[in-house]
Amino acid sequence: PYPAYSKLREMDPVHYVHFQDGQRGWLVTGYEDGAAVLKDARFIKDFSKLYGGSMDGMSVFTQNMLFSDPPDHKRLRGLAQKAFTPKMISGMRGRIQEITDTLLDGLEGKKDVDLIDEFAFPLPIIVICEILGVPAEDRDKFRLWSNSLIEGTSGEAGVSVYQHMTQFIEYLGQWFQKVRANPDGSLISKLIETEEAGDRLSEKELYGLVSLLIIAGHETTVNLIGNTVLALMAYPDQQDMLREQPELVPQAIEESLRFNGPVEFSTSRWASEDLEFRGKRIHRGDVVVVALNAANHDPEKFEAPDRFDVLREKSPHLAFGMGIHFCLGAPLARLEGEIAISSLLSRFGNIRLAVDESELSWRPGMIVRGVKELSVNL
Ligand code: HEM
Repeated sequence: PYPAYSKLREMDPVHYVHFQDGQRGWLVTGYEDGAAVLKDARFIKDFSKLYGGSMDGMSVFTQNMLFSDPPDHKRLRGLAQKAFTPKMISGMRGRIQEITDTLLDGLEGKKDVDLIDEFAFPLPIIVICEILGVPAEDRDKFRLWSNSLIEGTSGEAGVSVYQHMTQFIEYLGQWFQKVRANPDGSLISKLIETEEAGDRLSEKELYGLVSLLIIAGHETTVNLIGNTVLALMAYPDQQDMLREQPELVPQAIEESLRFNGPVEFSTSRWASEDLEFRGKRIHRGDVVVVALNAANHDPEKFEAPDRFDVLREKSPHLAFGMGIHFCLGAPLARLEGEIAISSLLSRFGNIRLAVDESELSWRPGMIVRGVKELSVNL
């Protein structure tokens, strides 16, 4: 499904590019090269070390683990990890199932539905809002702000991305104040407690972490669900196989992550020094990005990579990244994906695309890979 990536991987796997936003750097399309970049400490995330300052006005959104290097990264990730434990995630199974069932009840009797709007989008949002303790009723606002930041355009006439960010920050500020006055056991409440116990999560870092979790909770799992359904509609025999053998669903989720991962590119890394990488001279300050979906279709790593195959075992894909920035939310995303897909398949006997495949429209921007709408016939 990615012919341009295949060509690039063959011809120039570490390729000098001009990105859409005018930045210049390197695009890495092979699996081994991509994994090497993600693990190489010479490629750093905190660009302020190279360029000074930080993106004006946006700096609260980068005061988090994803834009940090050791030793800050360890501290920031460690604090979040304390509140975001695997035990807490697995304890969410029952509640995620309940939310899923309620959303699917709403689809009963309808013929054509937009599965993104009515299912894949609300599910992870309701879950992350409950974990954080912010009202799920405000989810349309979060969606607007989060899409704005990710897509780099507000989507509203006369409103800038910057205005949306300001509204987002104001909203969070008010919410933190409320929780400070009335601790409620939510994740935000726990983070505030650690902050007050002198555990070094500054106010700015609290904004950074919470906004990162809201954005990650919005922009990724929705596309995992959407892209998986899309693949199962394109391969109806595998859709039926999963209905008969639901124990294969977790493996199908891994295959979907590999085949059409929700995150197209790793976030940017910057070369911290002049260096040589796979025969290319990379200069200090150059951006380096791994095309995760290209790496996941590398024939050197995956047999018949362009075939979607739910029976594929052991798939060391890069959809969640690799190394110290490996996705913190992976256990949550996997759990949500598994419950969403198993429940959809057991409830609806035959899920088909209601429009022609050529009519699907993919979301803009370089980061996420997912369709805007998914009209299906249940
Ligand atoms: C990091 C993918 C869901 C929280 C990452 C990275 C990737 C990724 C590729 C690494 C980026 C890089 O190294 O440049 C995904 C995918 C998801 C998903 C494909 C869904 C299918 C989530 C969810 C959350 C989350 C649900 C939390 C609610 C994070 C955090 C990081 C991260 C906090 C930063 C980790 C660090 O810098 O140490 N994710 N993610 N992700 N993800 Fe996810």
